[in-house]
Amino acid sequence: MSTPATVTHTVDADGIGWITFDDPASRANVYNPPTQAALRAAIEALAMQPVKAVVVISGKEKIFIAGADLRWLGKLPDAKAGAQAARDGQALFGLLADFKVPVVAAIHGACPGGAYETALACHWRVATDAKETVIGLPEVGLGLIPGWGGCARLPRLIGAQAAADHIVKATLLPAKVALQTGLIDELVPPADLRARAKAAALKLAAEGKPARISPPPADAAFFAEQRKLALTRLRGQPAPLAALDAIEQGSGLTLPLALELEAALFGEVAASEVAKNLIHVFFLKDAVKKLTVDAWFPPVGGSLSPDTSAASGRKASPTPPVPFKKVGVIGAGVMGSGIAQWCAARGYTVVMRDVQPEFVERGLSIIKGVFDEAVARKKMKTEDAAAAFARVTGTTDLARFADCDLVIEAIVENVAAKQALFADLAPVVRADCVLASNTSALPIEELASTASHPGRTVGIHFFNPVSKMPLAEIVLSPHTTRDTADRVLAFTKQLGKTPVICRSSPGFFVTRVLFFYLNEACALWEQGVPTDVIDRAMRDWGWPMGPMRLIDEVGVDVTDFIYGEMKHYFPGRFAGATVCSRMLAAGLKGRKNGASAGFYTYAGKEALNPAMAKFAPEAGKTMDARAIQEHLNGVMIAETERVLAEGVLKTADDADFALLMGTGFPAFRGGLMRYAKSAGRSKG
Ligand code: NAI
Repeated sequence: MSTPATVTHTVDADGIGWITFDDPASRANVYNPPTQAALRAAIEALAMQPVKAVVVISGKEKIFIAGADLRWLGKLPDAKAGAQAARDGQALFGLLADFKVPVVAAIHGACPGGAYETALACHWRVATDAKETVIGLPEVGLGLIPGWGGCARLPRLIGAQAAADHIVKATLLPAKVALQTGLIDELVPPADLRARAKAAALKLAAEGKPARISPPPADAAFFAEQRKLALTRLRGQPAPLAALDAIEQGSGLTLPLALELEAALFGEVAASEVAKNLIHVFFLKDAVKKLTVDAWFPPVGGSLSPDTSAASGRKASPTPPVPFKKVGVIGAGVMGSGIAQWCAARGYTVVMRDVQPEFVERGLSIIKGVFDEAVARKKMKTEDAAAAFARVTGTTDLARFADCDLVIEAIVENVAAKQALFADLAPVVRADCVLASNTSALPIEELASTASHPGRTVGIHFFNPVSKMPLAEIVLSPHTTRDTADRVLAFTKQLGKTPVICRSSPGFFVTRVLFFYLNEACALWEQGVPTDVIDRAMRDWGWPMGPMRLIDEVGVDVTDFIYGEMKHYFPGRFAGATVCSRMLAAGLKGRKNGASAGFYTYAGKEALNPAMAKFAPEAGKTMDARAIQEHLNGVMIAETERVLAEGVLKTADDADFALLMGTGFPAFRGGLMRYAKSAGRSKG
């Protein structure tokens, strides 16, 4: 039996040919060799018929075409195969561009990469104004360049500079912006798409393919500047540079020569380590959607929860986990208010408690500020922000938690205080209420030893600022039941956070590895390696900021406190650097409270803090960038290997994902342990 075609064609009563992408076996249409063959067959079949014009459309609800199949692209063996894959796609879309009659793209839903290159080869582009319609060429974000005509055709449509700007930024544009930028020709309501695309097709059939004004030639100074930026900001990754070459040089060539240049450059970047890394990261992110707790609760044996009751046994429940509705947050400080805001924004009813009314008020005003900012940045409508803010109630009264489904504590990082809180909560909350701690380092079982139902205790470690950081570590104690883990996993996904699951252990994963790294950077500093030398080395390697600058950002006080915890939990192994304690004693807290100071000063233009000289050894130490990078990366790799050996995380991919989402680890390196493996630095 032959498989049903992913692309079909029909001709309507008015002589319009319709090419429809609708893969019956998938929720999305993607380009791979079978889809390409199906498109070719559809085009060739219509070429044999007396059509007046053709419309290319999708049968899917939210996707025009999802672009090229990255599993296929990620496996291209070398530059030659990459260039050939580009040429094949270009030739296929060339059939649309050179079709005997006009071709109209009717776009609804996501239209990235190869999907938009399909549309670019058409003679007219109509798109819906639905919010799911996003359009553009994001290939550079995956270490690739548009290789099916994007680099050659977009400059001819909107000009070389605008094309370079769009392709290097690698973001998808809402349809309205795509219209303003010239990526599409018409914007229509979703219900009118077919009719308006058909009207455009009939008009072009009558008037001929549209004549387009030649855009201005490439400006050398603009491209020189863009290359400089790509070398510094994007750390010289190959794809942005290749895209700039393809656009600048290609816009001065004939279209066939520009396409050939594009294909050759595509081949080179597709074969690069960076493209393979970024595609790997794409799949790591994608895998989170399907994450379950199965690996932690094997059906038989296993070291976690001994609980085998029907509601919380090891076996996956056939019914979805019971969702939380009302969330309690205890502590209205930095994290508590951040968590309360995010939960309310995602539709939960929230009650937030602190010990003093003025602390509650302060927390509520922080929350209001985050909502106001979301409105100012057009991320939320005014009325939605107001409704979300109204879902948060502040209180000093613990009794208000009696009807909560989930309570998350974010009080001071102190074992005794948290234990006292869990004890106080025991008589108040419902028996089925899940109790979570947002501790950044303390073992959950230690905190929850006073809880009435240890099986319903868990860690949910959010990162600061909650509204911006995507990662949430879900921390399972030896007592956490499967049902609790299931519900909390569903909750973090519902919040739109990207979860990683780990076993309770001091510092869990991210705090542990990050603070071993920061501490080692401080140790180098104490040996006399200057702040800017350490920071520049790690920035050059790809980190968004160096470790000393990061300490200022986290806060010297918070860093010093966590160093203390790490020393306590890893005696002998964590030789805490002392510079942070000495800075604190001198009132240097980092970048807190606006114009404060730490390794750097922040009043006015950011600069190295001269006051740090008194803490440094008299003799400086020279260490080249590579040695610093290898040393500091080595510390992180060694600690991650320990974490994996101890079973705190299940896989090296989990570790890579957590650092990518929780610390700004450079994605183009593919992940810490992937890097370690490729650089021959891991034991595994
Ligand atoms: P914070 O000092 O800003 O806020 C803590 C709040 O808890 C204070 O307002 C305090 O009055 C209140 N509080 C203390 N005891 C209380 C009680 N029994 N009932 C109600 N409220 C009480 O602290 P922050 O930074 O928000 O940290 C909270 C927790 O989150 C800590 O466990 C910390 O380790 C963790 N965390 C902190 C991160 C950060 O970057 N600040 C990141 C991730 C986790």
